[in-house]
Amino acid sequence: MPIDNSNMLKVIEDFPQQCKTALELPKGISVSGKVDKIFVCGMGGSAVGGDLLKIYMQNSKIPVFVVRDYKMPNFVDENSLIFAVSYSGNTEETISAYQDAVKKKVKIVAVTTGGQLGSMAKKVIKIPTGLQPRAALGYTFFPVLGVLANSGIIDVNGKEIEEMLGILSKKDEFNAVGERIAKKIGQRTPIIYASEMLNAVAYRWKTQFNENSKVPAFHHTFSEMNHNEIAGFQSMNKNNFIAIFIKDKDDNERIKKRMDITKEIISSRVDVEEIFTRGEHLLSRMFSGIYYGDFASYYLALANKIDPTPVTVIENLKKKLK
Ligand code: F6R
Repeated sequence: MPIDNSNMLKVIEDFPQQCKTALELPKGISVSGKVDKIFVCGMGGSAVGGDLLKIYMQNSKIPVFVVRDYKMPNFVDENSLIFAVSYSGNTEETISAYQDAVKKKVKIVAVTTGGQLGSMAKKVIKIPTGLQPRAALGYTFFPVLGVLANSGIIDVNGKEIEEMLGILSKKDEFNAVGERIAKKIGQRTPIIYASEMLNAVAYRWKTQFNENSKVPAFHHTFSEMNHNEIAGFQSMNKNNFIAIFIKDKDDNERIKKRMDITKEIISSRVDVEEIFTRGEHLLSRMFSGIYYGDFASYYLALANKIDPTPVTVIENLKKKLK
């Protein structure tokens, strides 16, 4: 019996191509007028792009807020730009936040395959159907980036895109590392750590282990974990947990030192795996960090004889809420 019935492996392998296609989708779409705050509303796989945008725009004067809720924050005003992102277009929290945003008369762009959001929104970027939302990260992230670039809010240079696509296209290397990590994890629960800057990358690993491999997984950041979570390792043993550190060349020097010392301290209680993001540009580093985890979660599903694609429990829960 094949386990990967919907061929998630191909979807993951095609991710660089998905990014290329996604880069074309926002062509000609922009917003006008003053923008001094950006909000990305979405849930689960459709919210990850918002988290990544927040990292990408960390040095911008325009703050990015990710809204995983039914309501927009009170400080939304006429200078706010809202992206309502829902792969299906039928996620109730995102629809509700969208309706709240409409009441506030702000600029809104929807990114969706259709659904209710697709019919309600005036400005819509339609993305291709047929994927699991979490596997459509290219389609949910790059249209947002494109609109911001087209509107003169950010400057995305061709070199960073080129570097990212070049790195991701070495998919066999990501595949091999992912497979190795999955074997190493075995039956243990992964805890993924990154710097606060790459929090979203560690969180994506966690959610991919949850949704693709159907296992519990946790994440936390440096250096906050040095102030609490590290104490819990005292009662851990190597059979139950494994720690994965995602390291980045631009991690603060003190964070790098903390990661090394932490590894030394916790190594007697837990195995520690280290993953290094790749590339010079932030875009490459974020997506390469994520890509390793996508493969790792895929191979962990296979090792557990679990089909990585369906998330029946999430679908059933949504049905019960109707
Ligand atoms: C399933 C997945 C979920 C969905 C979430 C919201 O693959 O990733 O986390 O993203 O339930 O649904 P959408 O993305 O359709 O708004």
